[in-house]
Order: sequence, then C-alpha cells, then structure tokens
Amino acid sequence: MTSVSEIIEQRNWQVVEAPFNAGKLSHLETIFTIGNGFLGLRGTFEEGYPGEMVSTLAHGIFNHAEGELVPDLVNLPNPLAVKITVNGVEFSMERGKGQMLGYRRVLDLRTACLTREVIWHNGVDAIVKLRFERFASLKNPHLVAQRISVRALLGTPIIRFNSRVDGTQNNEGVHHWEEMQTGGEGDLIFLNRVTTQSRYRIAVASLHQFNPMLKAELTLTAGQPSLAYQTSLAVDSEVALIKWSAIHTNRDSDDPLHAAQMTLKAAQQQGYESSYQAHVEEWATYWHDSDIQIEGDETAQRAVRFCTYHLLIAAPRDDDRVSIGAKTLSGPGYKGHVFWDTELFMVPMLTLTQPKIARNLLMYRYHNLEGARHKAQKSGFAGAMFPWESTDTGEETTPQWTHPLPDGTRIRIWTGDNEQHISTDIAYAVMQYWHWTGDDEFFLKYGAEIVLDTAVFWGSRVEYNADQGRYELTNQIGPDEYHENVNNSVFTNRMTQWHLQTAITVHDWLLREHPTAGAGLIERLGINTQQLTRWRDIIARMYLPKDPQTGLLEQFEGFFKLDRIDISHWQPRVANLDAVLGHERTQEVMVIKQADIVMLMALLGDQFGSRAEQEHHWTFYYPLVDHGSSLSPSIHAWIAARLDHMADAYKLFHYAANIDLEDLKGNIRDGIHAAAAGGVWQALVFGFAGLNLDEMGNLRLMPKLPSHWRSVRFRVWCKGQQRQIVIGDETSTNP
Ligand code: BGC
Repeated sequence: MTSVSEIIEQRNWQVVEAPFNAGKLSHLETIFTIGNGFLGLRGTFEEGYPGEMVSTLAHGIFNHAEGELVPDLVNLPNPLAVKITVNGVEFSMERGKGQMLGYRRVLDLRTACLTREVIWHNGVDAIVKLRFERFASLKNPHLVAQRISVRALLGTPIIRFNSRVDGTQNNEGVHHWEEMQTGGEGDLIFLNRVTTQSRYRIAVASLHQFNPMLKAELTLTAGQPSLAYQTSLAVDSEVALIKWSAIHTNRDSDDPLHAAQMTLKAAQQQGYESSYQAHVEEWATYWHDSDIQIEGDETAQRAVRFCTYHLLIAAPRDDDRVSIGAKTLSGPGYKGHVFWDTELFMVPMLTLTQPKIARNLLMYRYHNLEGARHKAQKSGFAGAMFPWESTDTGEETTPQWTHPLPDGTRIRIWTGDNEQHISTDIAYAVMQYWHWTGDDEFFLKYGAEIVLDTAVFWGSRVEYNADQGRYELTNQIGPDEYHENVNNSVFTNRMTQWHLQTAITVHDWLLREHPTAGAGLIERLGINTQQLTRWRDIIARMYLPKDPQTGLLEQFEGFFKLDRIDISHWQPRVANLDAVLGHERTQEVMVIKQADIVMLMALLGDQFGSRAEQEHHWTFYYPLVDHGSSLSPSIHAWIAARLDHMADAYKLFHYAANIDLEDLKGNIRDGIHAAAAGGVWQALVFGFAGLNLDEMGNLRLMPKLPSHWRSVRFRVWCKGQQRQIVIGDETSTNP
C-alpha cells in the first residue's frame, strides 16, 4: 500500500495536467518538453491540433535561410505524429463527434517520461482508454520511444493507427530544408534531408512494432512517409503500437540514415521495457548529483525540480561543440541562440553538480574562439570578443534590427555591437569552473586561453581619458538593456577591472606552474610586458562613476540625472515597462530592466564592498528594478537572502521558480526561461544556503533559509570530491 509520504514524494516529482486544458496548449507544450541533451521535443500531441507549435530541435543544427537576418536553430521533422481512428472516427480531444470522459497528462521529472491517459467515447459506438507514453532516451540520445495503447472499454471497435514522420514543419514560416529522400519499407519510414545554407544532413526514421503483428500499409507522400496498422478489438482487450524514432545528423555520423537504422535495430532488439529501464537508471545518476531536496515547502520542491529537469534535458552531455540557447530546445525563442545566460546563469549549477557538462559548455566557447577573434578584429580590437548571440560558427548572430513594428518602423538592436560584457562573463564562468573543480588540465589547455585572449581584447578596448587621467568604456550596454549605449557602465567597467586582474594572476600562474606550455601560450597570444603594464594601469585607474555625497555607485554616467518614476504605481502589470513607455522614453527614466549593480554584487560578493555598502546599494537599486527580464528575480532573491531580507528573498525566489510553471512572463510559448531556471539553483545554493568555496579550498555555508523550510539537502562536486550538504536539523556531512 502506498503511504502518505510516498504519495507526497511522487507528487513532488510530477507536473500534472488534469483535466485537458485546450486554452493552455502552447504553455503546456513548452513545459512538457522532453529531451536528453541532444534533442528536445515539445509536448505537442501525437494527433495534432490547430494552433499547436510542433518542434523537434537538436543542438547545433543551425541554418541561415535566404532573406533572413540571422540563423535559426532548425525545426526538424516531427517523429511523434500518430493519428488514431476508432471505428472510423478520428480521435481528437476537442473537435468532431467524440466525447472526453477522462484525461490526465503527467510529466514525471524523475524519469523524464511524458504520459497521457484519455477515456474517450467515439460518439457512435465505442468507448476506449488511450494511453500514450514517450521518452527521449538518456542512454542513447539519438533514440525517442513511444508506446501507444488502446483498450476497448465498450464495444468491439476497429482501431487504426496512422503513424508518420512529419516533415511539414518549419520555423514559424521560414523553410530550411532541401528534401533528399522520403522512404520506407516494412515497418520503417524515414526522411533524409539537408539544410539549405549550412548543408547539415539529417535523417529522421521511425520503426514500428505493432501488437498483434500485422502487415502495415505504407504511403510515401513526399516529406510525409506514413504507415497504417489496423485491427479490431474485443471488449477489454488492448492493442499497442511501439514507435521507435531515431535522429542522426552529419554532426555525429557520416551516413545519418544508416546510423538511424542501426539505432532503431538496436532499440528493437533491446525491447521497450529494457530500453526504458536503462533510460530511467541513467536519469537516476543525474538526479543523484543534481537534485535539491527541500522539506517544508512542496511548491518550492516541485518548482526547483522542474527547473533542474529543464536544465538537464537541455545540457549537452556528449558534445563539446554546442551550447544551451536561452530557451533551451523547447521553443523558437531567440532562434536557439546562445547568450551570457549560459555562462552566468546555467553553468554554475552544472559546474557544481555536473562538472563534465559544464566543461562541455565551456569548450564550446573555446572552439569558437576564432569567431570571437574575428569579431574583435572586425571591430578594430585585438584578442577575442565573444558574440552577444552565438550559434554554430562563433560569429556574431545578433540581428541588427527588430522586425517591423505595426507602424512599419524598425528598431536598431545594439546588443550585438555594444553588450560587450559577455566576454568577461565567459571568463568568469571559466574561473568559477576551475576554482570549484581544480581541473588544471582543462584550464591549462583551454581555459587560460579564453581568459587571457578576452583580456587582450579589453586591454585594446578600454579608452584612456587624458583630461581626467582615467580609463573609460564608452558606448556600452550593461545587463540593464533599457539603457543602451551608455558610458561607463559600472557593471562592465568593474568586471573588466576584475577580468584584467584575473588575467594577470593567470599569467603568473602559467609561468610559475607550467613554464614551458605557459610561456608558449603567452607568446602565442602576444602578451608582453608592455601590455601587462597597461593592464595594471587600467586596473588602478578604471573609472567607476560614484556620487561623492551618497557613496553610491552610479549604474552608468548620467543615471542619477534620469527622471524618477515610482514603478510600484505600475503594478499589477504583465508587460515590461519598456513596452508600456516606449523605447525612447524608457531610456530617460530611472527604471532598470534586470539585476545590474545587483548582478555585480552577486558575482563579486565581498569584493563588491562591505556588507553595509552592499545594503546601501540594495536599498537604492532594488526599488528601481522592473524585472523586465526573467534573468532578474533569481539574482535579486540570492542577494536579498544574503542581506537578510528574507520576505523579499522568498517572494523573488518563488516568482523565479514558477516563471514557467505559471507562465508569469506571458511568453512561455517561445520556450523555457533557462537562465531563470539556473538562477533559481543559485538563489538556493549561493543565496539561501550561502555556499562558498574560499581561496583556501574550504567549503563554507552561511544558511539563511526561509523560516518555513525545515531542511535543504543537495550535493556538490568540489575539487573532484562529491560533498553532501544538509541544512536543517543536521549539519554538513560527507556522502
Ligand atoms: C535579457 C538578456 C538575455 C536575453 C536572452 C534579454 O531580455 O535582457 O540579458 O541575455 O534576454 O535571455
């Protein structure tokens, strides 16, 4: 018998939809995405509905279609499509003659398996129970498995399954494919394609097992091969279709179609149950390392697991040439592009709980250093300047313009030109990874080069103001994107100072610890004494605007002169303030899009200043923030907890953790807010738990838990050892 605590435990791993909610189609499609670090499949239904957004995305498959401003992460053919008819009536939950008698859809976070059960009257002569299961294998990331069963509850219906590989998908109207082959034979159907510009080859193939065994009818419509199986059912008997699908590309195999066929054959030999078990066991190892257990707050528990789930299904485990886009593999938002979201919001959780994956993500930046060097060179600078938006080539892929507004005008997007802090954000993530893992091999071979060459960029980028005798950075965009092209953004200037200081430390470490390899790298990057002298001078004389009267750092030069508006008067509101006030007016008011100075506090901790100074800045800046970006609340929650503002900390944490579950930003259709998910982990671990690794290698905890939480447990990797942290009745222990 199931105990109460088992029921609660199970509930804390499940996201449930019951009854069916047609009005939340796109919301639920996003949150019910399944994936395995190679691909992501939105939670659309097998049978298809108007208004749905079917999306099958695999890391790294970008294409720049003719006439488009920037590349897209390409929407692949959909392997999940299956239509079912019951005595000739097509199964549909919202149209036609049929009637829904019961419905429940569950995403089990622990097993990453999506199931749906429906009791359905076909409106004529039969009642059936349909059960759909799907998972994207974590054991073999090229494999997707579905099992669909139909049981006759009333009547003796004829059941027909029509299974397709649906190649009609595109990217919101943009087409990226040339068809190479539509094929099939026996129980197999497939599509073989190539992208128009990037020439990625991809095969999507499905193999079917039908019980009872029957010969299928094959139809090879171009771009939509299908197989139909038909049988009649006696009352209380069941029929089941297992659909195996394989996705391979020329990124993983020279002959993707052959590879897909091999994957399918192996899966069929292994069988559904055993394949599912292998998948679940693999998931257990990831949850062992990354789960956070909260006692005393079921809502937070489930929401935190939901965030962790979405980071884990998006995190590339076997590929170090791809990274996680701002919306993971769960939707079309930002066209799959990679931002600072990855390094400062997602990577920390992975560095501490899945260091191998964090390493892959940092290697993606290493492999793309050429693109970053190219960008620096094109802009007239030395070293490496990473793109604000990145895809598969490492080149800058931020669009320069928005799409036309209703009045036909377009707005210039400046982030690709001037949001340059990303180079330092990447260096910060590399240093954080090295600090926690002690992975000298990575650092010596790859990490140091990222940190140093981006420092070379800053050394050439910083401007000397001879009149004032100080160094400056003009025309920047800090995290607060409401104010563009500003001079002396404190975030950017202070992080540049940190970056150059760090680069000097790395330089010295290389020469001390690895004289031959270190000297080779330093020489290759052209770093010489003259340059080091300049870096030291910049560190000493970098301008950080500050009000001498109040001692407050000014977010950027001129910020304190902007118009003050009280944003509390604008609540409740869903739209961001820049959308309400308009682009121009927003620049004139003292409203901040997201954690900016507060982000600096999070990154620098005590190096930002004393506790009193932090409090002083929090008191001034917190009321000005609009949280216009989903990246904002979690970072504020983290700092609020450190400064003992526990009510605010919990409110912000709760908001961040539920952004997607409750669609709090109103744009969930575009995909998961992955940075928010990563920020939630940091708010909990660095904020509430106050975890820190000091320079001496000591793990420190300064817990400040919400008062209703009884305990928090999690594991972190630290210098190659896994440590279990327990906050609550017990104290920190080893595993
Ligand atoms: C935020 C950026 C973020 C981007 C992608 C923007 O709205 O302001 O900081 O990188 O979204 O998530």
